[in-house]
Amino acid sequence: MTAIAIKLNQSYEQSLHRATKVNWRIEDIIGGDKRLDFSKRFMPEVLARVNQISCLNAAEKLILNQIRGNSYLHLFGLVEEFIVPCVLDHVKTAGLADITATQALLHFAEEESKHIRLFRRFAEEFEIGFGSRCDGIGPVQDIANAVLQYRPLGVVLIILYIEWMTQYHYLASIRDNFGEKLDLQFCSLLRNHWLEEAQHTTLDTLMVEQLVRQLEPSEVEAGVEDFFKLIEFLNGGLMMQVQLDMESLARATGRIFTEAEKQEIQTIQEQSYRWTFIGSGITHTQFVETFKQVSPAQQVRLLEVAEIYCQ
Ligand SMILES: [Fe+2]
Ligand SMILES: [Fe+2]
Repeated sequence: MTAIAIKLNQSYEQSLHRATKVNWRIEDIIGGDKRLDFSKRFMPEVLARVNQISCLNAAEKLILNQIRGNSYLHLFGLVEEFIVPCVLDHVKTAGLADITATQALLHFAEEESKHIRLFRRFAEEFEIGFGSRCDGIGPVQDIANAVLQYRPLGVVLIILYIEWMTQYHYLASIRDNFGEKLDLQFCSLLRNHWLEEAQHTTLDTLMVEQLVRQLEPSEVEAGVEDFFKLIEFLNGGLMMQVQLDMESLARATGRIFTEAEKQEIQTIQEQSYRWTFIGSGITHTQFVETFKQVSPAQQVRLLEVAEIYCQ
């Protein structure tokens, strides 16, 4: 066995070991006496940005915050739907030569399947308690399939930034956030998701490294190009979600917004979505570090693109 193979095997082994120690069940997080509290905000302000919208009163800001909680469930459920087949495809190509790697990656796919069920379960609770309809972009399967049409390296780089982003969402805005008094179940959702995502970033990074080793330099650059195309594709979906959220807000509040009010909500929410679902991930130090190793030539471009998503 070569030194690289031994190191890889140890990384998969450690990741698998840590993953089996976490392993929570959905019923430990939601259901029974664990209900959503609709008198509280669901999302931290740093991820939802409702406070600065001057045309909304306090009750309407609470409603928009909860709509953002629901869209968070929808969008994370959606990304997990392309993560699972992407990881399974990677397992199929890698084969059984490194059986520890196979087991670690299958466990990864199993956890992401559980996360899809978790987000759907929360969405059911939301629907029961919120009182009016909230739509999410879709059809989810079509969007997931469209993402999977891009080169695997591009898709895995997207998955890698999403996993780092999930960790940021908990560590930077929930764990030490004692001021906002958010809904306990939503805090628990973000915490438990983060606990399992912590292993996924290791596995994503290993998948990126493996793909890069197998590809010609021109194929690596084509994969990186697809990563940038995918960011634009995802951003298009997020901007559609902003429109749906504004319709949900009008339905829930019974308000008819003026053009100026619509413009204000749209501008602030578009910036918020870009930061929450793209900017906070592609600027994560660990993601930038891996990206630099994959494509030193595209470092500057990554920084330029990041500026658009970090306002
Ligand atoms: Fe997940
Ligand atoms: Fe994950």
